[in-house]
Amino acid sequence: MTISDRSSTVQLGNAITNPGHGDDFTEHMYSLRWSENLGWHQPRLTALENLELHPGTVALHYGQCAFEGLKAHRQIDGTVAVFRPKENALRFQRSARRLSMPELPEDLFLEAVERLVQADQNRLSGNLEHSLYLRPLLFATDTSLMLRPSSTFRFLLIAFVAGGFFGDGVESVSVLINRDYSRAMPGGTGDVKVAGNYASTFVAQRMAHEAGCAQVVWLDSAEHRWVEEMGGMNLFFVRGHGFGAEVVTPALTGTLLPGITRDSLLRLAGRLGYVPREERLSVDQWREECASGVITEVFSCGTAAVVTPVTSVRDVDGGWIVGDGHPGPVTMAMRRSLFEVQHGLTQDQDGWLHRISPASA
Ligand SMILES: Cc1ncc(COP(=O)(O)O)c(C=O)c1O
Repeated sequence: MTISDRSSTVQLGNAITNPGHGDDFTEHMYSLRWSENLGWHQPRLTALENLELHPGTVALHYGQCAFEGLKAHRQIDGTVAVFRPKENALRFQRSARRLSMPELPEDLFLEAVERLVQADQNRLSGNLEHSLYLRPLLFATDTSLMLRPSSTFRFLLIAFVAGGFFGDGVESVSVLINRDYSRAMPGGTGDVKVAGNYASTFVAQRMAHEAGCAQVVWLDSAEHRWVEEMGGMNLFFVRGHGFGAEVVTPALTGTLLPGITRDSLLRLAGRLGYVPREERLSVDQWREECASGVITEVFSCGTAAVVTPVTSVRDVDGGWIVGDGHPGPVTMAMRRSLFEVQHGLTQDQDGWLHRISPASA
C-alpha cells in the first residue's frame, strides 16, 4: 500500500528490500568527551570513522560501557520523529550510574539525537517498515589496566537503517527456555543496558539456534522458575479473547530491563479495551495455561523487534504451542496500535514523538 502527499511517498508493508539489522550504517556520527576537569566537552558531528584506541583502554578490558537503542521513524506526513527519546536518555543515565560513569544530561542526549537524525534522515526511505535505529554508546577511555573506574569517557551516537529484526513483515518466532545459564541476578545489572549483559547471553542464543528456535527465554536466577524476558525483548501473555482480554507482562523485579516498548504497550492496551497487568508468571503456568486455553497468545516486544508473535516454546522436557500456533488478534492489534503512534497515523496523546526539523539545504 502506498500513500502519497506533497512532501513524500510512504509505503505501508510490502517492503521491497530488507536492510537487515545492524549493518547498513549511516554516513555520520556524533561524539562528546568527558573528563573530571572539563565535564562534557568537544561536541562534534563528523563523518562516521574508525576509532583509534590504545590496547589498554579500560572499556575493552573491564566492560565499563553502556549503550541504548531507539528509533527515528518516517511519519505519514513525510517528516521524521524519534520515539520517546527522553525515556532512553533517562535509562542511559541509570546505566551510567550503575557502572560509575558520568550521566549524560538529557538535553545533551537529545541534541545528539537531533543533530545525527537531521544529518542522516535522507537515508530513511518512504517505506514505513524501515526506520533509523540510533545507538548511543558511552565507554571508558583511560589507558590503564589498574582495576578502577576510568576518569575519562567518550559518548558516541551512530545509526543504521533498520528493516524488521526478524525480517520485514510479521513473522512468528519459536523460543527456547534456557535452563543452563542466568542473564541477571538480584543486585546485578539486569535492569540496565550495559555491554556485559549481552556478551554472556550469546552462548545461550547459539543453543536456541541449534534447537531450531529464534530466541532465548530467560528465567530468574534463584529458582529458575519465573519468566523474565528474552535476549533483547520483553514478553507479554494474553489471557482470553477480544475486549477485556488480559495483557500480562512479567513485573519489574530489578533483574529485567524496563523496556520502553513494554511501557508503551501497557499504556496502549487499556485504550484498546484490554486489561494490562504486571505479575510474576512461572514457566509451569505458561505451559498449563496454554494447555487449558487460558493463555491464547504470547508476544515479545522491543525497539528492534517491535511486537513479534511467539507461537511455539521448547523446554528441556518437550515443548508446546501457543494458541493455534499463528499470530493472534490481540498481538496484531497491539502491534498496529504501536505502529500507528510511531508513524503519526494516530494522535500522539502522550507526547511520545520527538519531531526532527528537516535537514537544512
Ligand atoms: C534485555 C532487553 N530487554 C528488553 C528490551 C526492550 O527494551 P526497549 O523496548 O526499550 O527497546 C531490550 C532492548 O533494549 C533489551 O536489551
